[in-house]
Amino acid sequence: MAQTKQTGNEPEGSVLDGLDSSSMTGLYWYLATLACIGGFLFGYDTAVIGSVLDFIPYELSPFWTGYLVAGASLGAAVGALAAGPLTDKFGRKSLLMADASIYAVGALLSALTVNAVMLISSRTLIGLAVGADSAIATAYIAEFAPKGRRGQLSLIQQWMITVGILVSYLVALLVFAVAPGAAENADWRIILGVGAVPAVIAVLLRARMPESPRWLIQQGRFADTSAALKKLGVDVTEEDVRRTAGVIEKVEADKHDERKRLWTPGVKRALAVVSVFFVFQQITGINVPFYYGPQLLGGLFKQPGDSAVHAAMAGLVAAAILGAVNVVATYLGFRWIDKMGRRPLALMGYAGMAAFMLVAAAGVAWLTGTPKVVVVMVGFSIFIASFAMGVGGTGWLLQGEVFPTAVRGRAAATGAGVNWIANFALIEAFPIMQAAFGLPTVMVILSALSVLAIVFISKFLPETKSLSVEEVVAVFDRQAAGEPATPSRPAHA
Ligand code: BGC
Repeated sequence: MAQTKQTGNEPEGSVLDGLDSSSMTGLYWYLATLACIGGFLFGYDTAVIGSVLDFIPYELSPFWTGYLVAGASLGAAVGALAAGPLTDKFGRKSLLMADASIYAVGALLSALTVNAVMLISSRTLIGLAVGADSAIATAYIAEFAPKGRRGQLSLIQQWMITVGILVSYLVALLVFAVAPGAAENADWRIILGVGAVPAVIAVLLRARMPESPRWLIQQGRFADTSAALKKLGVDVTEEDVRRTAGVIEKVEADKHDERKRLWTPGVKRALAVVSVFFVFQQITGINVPFYYGPQLLGGLFKQPGDSAVHAAMAGLVAAAILGAVNVVATYLGFRWIDKMGRRPLALMGYAGMAAFMLVAAAGVAWLTGTPKVVVVMVGFSIFIASFAMGVGGTGWLLQGEVFPTAVRGRAAATGAGVNWIANFALIEAFPIMQAAFGLPTVMVILSALSVLAIVFISKFLPETKSLSVEEVVAVFDRQAAGEPATPSRPAHA
């Protein structure tokens, strides 16, 4: 356990320095993983619906069928936007616990569904939880993580998302393999209901996690802050905390004007950068192979004469291969994010996405038979690996780390809301674009968007690795004032 004993004689701000500079312990990994169980459910619940859609025995119009897939993203946008003010008022822990409960109820109701309305309602509920959880998980982590490990700890969120996606394909494959005859009866219910298990575990374990110390300070709850810090291995008195609160005021505040104090030009700039990053994260097409993969790739893998359930399993095998690539490549991002930094990883990520989306497009347009399968799978795999290393987790990390504590909940939630709206827009637009231009042309457009993302990052994304969250805020404030992003001398390095 990291014990950073504070004597009260350190310079002001030392309470948070204790967190920023403490060495990593099992507790930090544990807490980050707990915060990110919602990421697992985010991945599981967004990907799982594609596997069961063909076997849901209700008469659904195309609109409601589309809603079952895309509605979770729209619900997530609403959940994310609602989570912001709630978490700034009630804390990070309370929201994380409420989300886990909603996830559990949503999964159980989906499994026990008696009609289409109940299924649609429970999927909407899950969507709200996905959004709310994604809005605050990395913010919670950013508020306790040592600054040199914040990237890694936050990337656990992305890693859990990818594991959730992969597990959803594997669970579906397993259930269909064990009981292929029950695809339209018990199978789809089990596949949807399994999400309740990690959700219930999350409720139980999250109940014991400490509230975010930065949020507690911000609320003026100094005794609680010192207790939370103690849980995190930083031993400080209430008086030390009180002094730190004054320092944060100075760093984050322009005391004369409350509104200006919270939403400084730097904060607005940070929100714009995170939002545009998130729009690119989605419109460059990552969810095309994930949401439409089973359908697009199933045709390449299935054998003539396969039954519906075996055709679905062929698509799931292809999706699971891509899902596994996603998990492995995210680990590389996790290893490199705090060493190489956010900018180089994101630039490399988008470059790989631009190039290999074109490779996959060439396979779709010009090849047939086995060469087509190989080229399309290699193209999509490296496209996904590039996203996983540099783009997916980087987006969620930036969303958690670039805002000041006073508005972190609302600002991070707005960023997450933008992510989900962009996600929804692409899912809706993809089939329309595919019908209008053909798949290869759509893929070329997606590749061009990755090139645009590179231009955006080179011009607007500052490097934030190794800075404390308070210093990160200052970087955006300096940029908004037209000054260079790099401080002449980091405040607490
Ligand atoms: C994105 C999701 C995507 C996932 C894939 C996340 O960062 O927000 O939309 O499905 O990565 O790994």
